[in-house]
Amino acid sequence: MKKIDHHFTIEEYQLQELNQEEQSLIQKAKDATALSHSPYSRFRVGCAILLENGETVLGANQENAAYPVCLCAEGVALANAAANFNKVSIVSMAITIATEHGKMLDPVAPCGLCRQSILEYENRQNKNISLYLKGEGEKIYKVQSIKDLLPLNFSDKALL
Ligand code: THU
Repeated sequence: MKKIDHHFTIEEYQLQELNQEEQSLIQKAKDATALSHSPYSRFRVGCAILLENGETVLGANQENAAYPVCLCAEGVALANAAANFNKVSIVSMAITIATEHGKMLDPVAPCGLCRQSILEYENRQNKNISLYLKGEGEKIYKVQSIKDLLPLNFSDKALL
């Protein structure tokens, strides 16, 4: 038997420790929670994507009365980037939330489907996408690559 260990690092920051560009991206993600249509979960998720050309694109979760049709904020933002800035690489993504009770303090990480989707973009552009995750508290997690959140992932390599 052989054990395979996967190791990854999450960096934890306070907002003031990040540079202006990073802080601004997180603020844009926070503002994007206002674009959420989430009458069913009342869980607003906002995402801001920084592109290599300096542009920012936004996304927010869009729910549907038929629950499986709901779209996550990350997916909406990625589709927005692909549609409006096709083939421009993604540098980073900030993801944050807003609840009515304001008590979800810890950073919220992307769901499994969104991780798989971010992986596809990262592999396509062959450059890491860094992620900034923030809840309603002060703590910010930075992850260098989606691969850190998706070990042993399924990718196009399996299809060649
Ligand atoms: N949601 C996101 O927007 N992103 C995630 O990564 C996890 C969940 C949304 C989907 C749904 O509208 C609400 O949060 C509650 O699950």
